[in-house]
Amino acid sequence: MLADKHILLIIGGGIAAYKSLDLIRQLRKRGCQVTPVLTKAGREFVTPLSVSALAGSKVYGDLFDLTDEAEMGHIELSRAADLIVVAPATADLMAKMAAGLSNDLASTLLLATDKRVLLAPSMNVRMWEHPATQRNLVTLKDDGILTVGPGEGDMACGEYGPGRMAEPMEIVAATDAALSDGPLKGKHVLVTSGPTHEPIDPVRYIANRSSGAQGTAIANALLALGAEVTFVTGPADVAPPMDATVVAIETAQDMLAAVGAALPADAAVFAAAVADWHVANASDSKIKKDKDGLPTLNFAENPDILAAVSGMEKGRPKLVVGFAAETNDVQANAVAKRKRKGCDWIVANDVSPETGIMGGSENAVTLISDDGADVWPRMGKDAVARQLAERIAQALA
Ligand code: C5P
Repeated sequence: MLADKHILLIIGGGIAAYKSLDLIRQLRKRGCQVTPVLTKAGREFVTPLSVSALAGSKVYGDLFDLTDEAEMGHIELSRAADLIVVAPATADLMAKMAAGLSNDLASTLLLATDKRVLLAPSMNVRMWEHPATQRNLVTLKDDGILTVGPGEGDMACGEYGPGRMAEPMEIVAATDAALSDGPLKGKHVLVTSGPTHEPIDPVRYIANRSSGAQGTAIANALLALGAEVTFVTGPADVAPPMDATVVAIETAQDMLAAVGAALPADAAVFAAAVADWHVANASDSKIKKDKDGLPTLNFAENPDILAAVSGMEKGRPKLVVGFAAETNDVQANAVAKRKRKGCDWIVANDVSPETGIMGGSENAVTLISDDGADVWPRMGKDAVARQLAERIAQALA
């Protein structure tokens, strides 16, 4: 799988940079072309000469190097590879990526690339465990960034714990997996996500608190398994997945049309929090507070997209997955909902405010299928997504 692949390897400034020299050897041994980028801090740990000699390539480092820019501009450099590997990925590089900063060559390449990115984090255990780094990690994973490690053990700084960069052979395996065709290769999966906005007038709307985090995580997990994903999203808080075909909509009616246009699909996951009603008498012009008095809003039911797709006689996706966000009798309501909507699976969760699930980073779900109710332990939304994507891959196999 690795033969003839082109890896852009960014070496950050950490003591583990010495392991990246062996990583270059291992990748080249497997037939990879390695283009190295050494950050300014990285140069404090390994020399450009050793990196260049092992990679058999020029080493890039400066955003404003006129010779480099003339040979290959930084945008082109970010696109030419099949995969970008960052090893060691320092706390600083991760923070820059999470914030979208681009003030040196490495961070600019990471922001400009249209390719997948694999990070091998490496830092002191306190830095790794710091809430800021963990927050950045969640953001990066939501953005579809892949990670390998860190491992746990004695660290060069004398402390013990997680933060050691993964060994070169583990990074090679993760690189191989990132470049491999996953079990969902050739499958088209449709994912709806986020809230819908239902206008009252051109400036006001009815909405709900969905952040789009779970739907985005699911789309990223499906992409990681090789699926082609169409992501139909309402106005969400989190950025849509990088590698999906993104269709941005506002209303439930728009979402129905976008879903119809995206079919056929092998599977469809309806993670959107679609508004149940729209305002039937929405105004074309802004309702005036002083002139029009208190407005009376007449509600009309929105189309049930999940039920409509589940009930399709022709062209129904083989697997239709719905969500049930409940605040009481979660399981019983979800079982009834599965029947009513006609979908194959329901992913049920308790969104009572005390669970902190709505808008939070964790989820506790029960998967309702023909096989009964499977209760999953509380875990990160990305872990839920990965588990669900694996199950979808098994069902479509
Ligand atoms: O009926 P309820 O909104 O609880 O059902 C939730 C499930 O149905 C979710 O999967 C949601 O995406 C989907 N749904 C839909 N269209 C609607 C309402 C809900 O697709 N109008």
